[in-house]
Order: sequence, then structure tokens, then C-alpha cells
Amino acid sequence: MIFDNPSPWKIKAIEPIPNPSPEERLKALSASGYNLFNVSSSLVTIDLLTDSGTGAMSQGQWSAILSGDESYAGSQSFYSLKKSVKDLFGYKVVIPTHQGRAAEDILFSAFGNKGKGVVSNHLFDTTTAHALEVGMKVFSCLDKKDKVFGGNFDLALLEKYLKEEEVELIVATVTCNSAGGLPVSLKNLRAVKKIADSHSVKIWIDMARIAENSYFQYLNGEGKSPKACALETCSLSDGGWMSSKKDGLVNIGGFIALKDKKNKEKYERLVELEILKEGFITYGGLAGRDMNALSVGLGEALDERYLKHRINEIKFLHTQLEEVGVPCVDPGGHAVYIDAGKWLPHLKSEDFPAQSLALALYLVGGIRTSEIGSLCAGRDNDGKQISCPGEYLRLAIPRRTYTSDHFMYIKRAFEIISKNKDSLPKLKFQKEAKKLRHFQSIFEDFSWTPSKYLNL
Ligand code: F0G
Repeated sequence: MIFDNPSPWKIKAIEPIPNPSPEERLKALSASGYNLFNVSSSLVTIDLLTDSGTGAMSQGQWSAILSGDESYAGSQSFYSLKKSVKDLFGYKVVIPTHQGRAAEDILFSAFGNKGKGVVSNHLFDTTTAHALEVGMKVFSCLDKKDKVFGGNFDLALLEKYLKEEEVELIVATVTCNSAGGLPVSLKNLRAVKKIADSHSVKIWIDMARIAENSYFQYLNGEGKSPKACALETCSLSDGGWMSSKKDGLVNIGGFIALKDKKNKEKYERLVELEILKEGFITYGGLAGRDMNALSVGLGEALDERYLKHRINEIKFLHTQLEEVGVPCVDPGGHAVYIDAGKWLPHLKSEDFPAQSLALALYLVGGIRTSEIGSLCAGRDNDGKQISCPGEYLRLAIPRRTYTSDHFMYIKRAFEIISKNKDSLPKLKFQKEAKKLRHFQSIFEDFSWTPSKYLNL
């Protein structure tokens, strides 16, 4: 399938990848406290921990880097970024930040209201953490029914929350990272907008993967190009923010974007916080060169040929894994999500099946992935486990980075694990981090007798 749709780029610079021995992997895992965030990249063969900031830039971006304007105020690179955001997404106000969560911090601190609700299809964990940090309540209304648009809002549930709770804000996460990276349709977003308007509630877009989301909308006949779909998606909102480390095709960067400055008081607070936390409004935590690379990257990410290959590479890996009996969520935009809860029925949610699988995959193939399940979802302000769409292991694919031979190596690792998967053990915290716990928690021993499996 991928072979009739070759990469629309060729490789100009290469980076060697490490090949740690089984013994080194075993040692690294134990030293990490069984948390792959604590493993050195020098001991990782294929790094699918995240697609965030881990992709390759194009020659167009590297050349734009050389002409970055490093002026503190009024940088020309800022104006280029502002123009790209306005042209591609229609937002007139752009405030750069060093990454997505900095934008979330500033937005929620300026616009958030203690005790009020945020309703989303499903928030990413950093967004949840920022909403909780300012004392807001979070509600999810994911509608998993649509085969393609599994990130859609359940409109009846949305309406219910808007009637019963004091909701301040609706956030559409496109694509929906916690729900298999599945997209949200324009049809659904138009309906969300109608409901939001009838309750006078604002809509923000979490634009981290808006290009991939727009491609699904375009493929399903919702617009004449991915660009047209992105523009319409944003037109249905009041603003949003982007972690540009994903569909900005850069290694660092982000921004807040608003339709206008009509809410003068909130806008002024936003600017105050930006200057306090990130930097002056024409650079906000980024160098001029970073903003130049981002201006170019945003356009490249919405290119139809690039997107076709991108979505097909995810589908390709998905098909390979299903061929060896690994149950995956329907293929989305940036990752293959394995339903570890389903594949390892002997483990309950509180045993963290996807984390157990992540550790096995590292031991067998030096492949690093991340848990997007109960561990990542964490606890609310009352200490209660936050529910999540599933116990998923995410194989996030960095953009323009790995090729199909890497995917075949991953398939082989899963074949080996599948023979021994029933013995994968449950995990118990040795130390549970209070916030954003998948980054920092450590676990008691991972008692999987791996010696006979380390033969890849
Ligand atoms: N929103 C979404 C949907 C995300 O996936 C992320 C980050 C953020 C916001 C925060 O952005 O990392 O630039 O501060 N996701 C990464 C991931 C970490 O691995 O999915 P950030």
C-alpha cells in the first residue's frame, strides 16, 4: 500500500541510530524505574515515544533558519509567522510561545474561571492539568461511533453539560490525541458551533495536529483541499493554540491565536502574562529563526502530497501490526494506537496494561513508545482516577523520519511479544507522581523473564 505512494521527499542528512544490546536494555529499564521517559536516547533504537518535536525539517525550513530576524521587538520573523497563521487559519492575533503547554498556561490563566467547566471531545493531559490548575472542571464528550471521525463530539452529551454545568469554554482537540489520534469532522464542528452559540459559550481549537485532521476532512469530501478544511475548522472557533512541534513540522514552537481582540480586558491580561512568562509579544520564547522555520513548516504540513503519505504511513504500520494479531484502534493521524486492554485481558486498567506492553517492547526491540491510558489520564483534584477512552499503547510516528523498513522491524518485535504476552505482569507504583504522572512516576520491579525473548 505504501509502495504506490512513496515519500514525497528524499533523505539529505542522516542520523545514526543506536543499537543497544539486550543486556544494556535490561539494565537501562531497571535504572529508569520502569519509566521509558527516564531512558537515555542513546539506548533507544526506534523512538516512538512522541511525534512532538521529533520530526525532520525540510531544506526550505533550514534555509529560512539562516534568515531569522533576531530583533527583540518587531522581528520580521514574527511578521512572517503572523502572516502564515492568518493565511492558513484565518486568525488575526498571534502570540508566539515556546511550545503548546506554555500557550495553555497563559490562555487558561487569562481566560479560565475557577469553578467553571471546560467541555471537550477529550483534552490532552497537559491541557487538563492547566484547566485543573486554575480550578476549572473538565468534562469529555467523545463520540466513538463514527468509523472515521472517532474524535467527534457526542452532541447530546455536549448539550447536557451545557445545560447542567456552568460551562465557560468548549475545546476541540483536532485530531484527538487521547482517542487514537482520530479526527473530528467539519459536520460535527459546525453542529458544536451551533450549540455553543445557543449557550453563548466560546470555542477554542487545540490545533496541534490540525493539518492531519484537515486531511481526513478533505478525504471525506468535506472541503476542496486540506487548506480549505483547516480554514473552515478555525472559522468555527473564537481562537485556539498550537503546539507547533507536531503539525508545525518544527522541533520547538507554539502559539496562541485569536480571531480578534474584542475582549479587551482578557487580551490585555494575555499580553501581560505572555511578557511575564514567555517574553515580548513578537518572540514569546522563540528565536527569530524558530519562527521562520515554523512559518514555512505550517504551509508544508498542509500540502496534500505530504499529507497523503503521512496518513498512509500510519495506515501501513497499522496493517502490519494487525496482520500479526495486534488489536489496533482505527488508524488516525499521527500514531498507531494498540488496544493493550484488549490484547492483554489478564491485566486490569489499574495494572496499566499499556505500560507493561511498552516495557516489553523496549526489552525486545529497543523500541520506545508511550502509554496513553489510565496512567497518562491521572487523577482529578479530588484524587479520583480520570477516565480515559482506552488502555492504549501509542506508537507515535515522528514526521518525515522513519521508513517502511523500520516499520517491519517493529512488526517483528510484536510477533515475538505475541508469543509470550499472557505472562506480561501488572505494574505497581513505587512512587506515583501527583501531576502528569506518566512523565515522572516510577514502578516496582517489572518481573517479566525476558532472557528468552531477547532474540531480535
Ligand atoms: N495538545 C495536544 C493535543 C498535544 O498532543 C500536546 C502534546 C499538547 C497539547 C502540549 O503541547 O508538548 O508542545 O507542550 N503532546 C505531546 C505528545 C507531548 O506526545 O502527544 P507541548
